[in-house]
Amino acid sequence: MSKTLITSALPYVNGVPHLGHMVGCLLPSDVYARFMRMMGNEVLYIAGTDEHGTPSEVGAAKEGMPVEEYCNKYHERHKKTYDDFELSFDCFGRTSSEANKEMTYHIFEQLDKNGYIEERTIKQVYSVDDERFLPDRYITGTCPHCGYDKARGDQCENCTKVLEPTDLINPRSTISGSTNLEVRETKHLFLKLPMLEKRLDEWVKSREPFWPDVAYSIAQKWLKEGLQERCITRDLKWGFPVNKPGFEDKVFYVWFDAPIGYIGITKQWADASGKSWKDWWLDAKDVNYVQFMGKDNVPFHSISFPATLLGTDEGWTFVDNLKGMSYLTYEGGKFSKSEKRGIFAEDAVTEYPADYWRYWLMSNAPEGSDSSFSFDLFASVVNKDLNGVLGNFVSRVLKMTASKIGEEVPAGGEDTEMEEALVKVLQERVNDYFKYMKELEFRKALNELRAIWVEGNNYISTAEPWTVIKENPERAAAILRTCINLIRIFAILSAPIMPKISEEMLNLVGLSLKDVKSIENFNVQEEIKALQPGTKFTVGETLFERITPERIAELKDKYGSSK
Ligand code: 2FM
Ligand code: ZN
Repeated sequence: MSKTLITSALPYVNGVPHLGHMVGCLLPSDVYARFMRMMGNEVLYIAGTDEHGTPSEVGAAKEGMPVEEYCNKYHERHKKTYDDFELSFDCFGRTSSEANKEMTYHIFEQLDKNGYIEERTIKQVYSVDDERFLPDRYITGTCPHCGYDKARGDQCENCTKVLEPTDLINPRSTISGSTNLEVRETKHLFLKLPMLEKRLDEWVKSREPFWPDVAYSIAQKWLKEGLQERCITRDLKWGFPVNKPGFEDKVFYVWFDAPIGYIGITKQWADASGKSWKDWWLDAKDVNYVQFMGKDNVPFHSISFPATLLGTDEGWTFVDNLKGMSYLTYEGGKFSKSEKRGIFAEDAVTEYPADYWRYWLMSNAPEGSDSSFSFDLFASVVNKDLNGVLGNFVSRVLKMTASKIGEEVPAGGEDTEMEEALVKVLQERVNDYFKYMKELEFRKALNELRAIWVEGNNYISTAEPWTVIKENPERAAAILRTCINLIRIFAILSAPIMPKISEEMLNLVGLSLKDVKSIENFNVQEEIKALQPGTKFTVGETLFERITPERIAELKDKYGSSK
């Protein structure tokens, strides 16, 4: 059994996740984790909230509460939303945990000991009216690279370039809007990335065959531009105080301790479960490590974090494969809580079951380029794919069998070349489905899954058991037996995407996902015979609800339409 470590980028604790956050890293990582578990791998799936830095301080100030309390509140809210979305983390932790503090301090000490840390006196923007320095998000201005006028002091959201607050044109304080700013000197610690450049370059090159093109080219672009020393400390109150004499009044930069959070959260998991975090992270040669993130996070995961680990000269686990997702827009515009535009994850599950969203989001995942959510598209996919293809097949087969033969898998009858052809085509599609899932090509994988359901519909339409039964009841029994077995197959194959619906489908034929053995060598020829004649089934309720035009209008009204 091989070991697969999976992490999703850690969402900032401030604010609540919308569908774009969901499909940007959390959901694909869950689908992959579920798939890899079903393939028989030992999986450790880690995520959590990213709690330090200016986003939390700004958020807490807005709500008038202490930062720690604010983080507790929003951590729980994230956790609940992800539970509702059926995300199957082994641990959903926090970057502010003691375990992460320990890891951050250790890694920093190693880097310092190995000569990769440098003290520098730098010029920082100071707000006279706010009486404080304005690091990162505390400052807003125009991006010097692309001209976007709401660029933040740490990164431009528009062109994804990483920035220093002093780079911004026409800067203003995010706290007060004040432009009464001056540049003052302050002492900080820097990670000497240029010293690590050569080793990093070799390592990135060795990853080319494994990383998707998008991720590889982003990393290459960064290396070509040449690495700069990165400031890893900040003049803030909230964060891990720097464990170096003379710097105790500073904290580590959020992007320093956030990726270390993957290790820290693994330690949280290990501490709670009595397992070993080192088995996954230190000298763990048998671990395959796959990361999921939005494309703006790729530089941090392909350059800064690996460089941080390289500089320790310890045997940390490096990312083997890295999936960088593009963005999901809402009805062609941006999701915005403040402007009441877009459906947020916690509201989505109150309207329709999580599996509907999971299926829509994964089959429209923003992989190569951005994709757009709209209620029309959502309803069309739910009505056509889920209701029309999958749901309809299940209810048609079970109702027909129950009324014509009885509520058990029919016995008797022979297979013909029709079943032989079905097995052949399904096996090809299953192989492609697995291949795409392994390659993290989710849209292609979901196309195959849908095509597998369609094969079932084509089969029953061609075999026409409702006609055949009049002349040859034995043959009709064989056809319906095949169809009921298809329901089991569809349920198993759909489980990484729609775990609840799959469980319901399996329950109809007296099974549960827990009973499913490894699907690594999924053999359709055998699987299509798995349910023996005489196995009881229940017809059950309709699996999916149709979304009517009236409901679409209601949802658009409630969640806002495009701008
Ligand atoms: O962009 C974000 O939402 C960051 N909070 C992602 C951090 S990923 C990891 F490094 F923690
Ligand atoms: Zn820009």
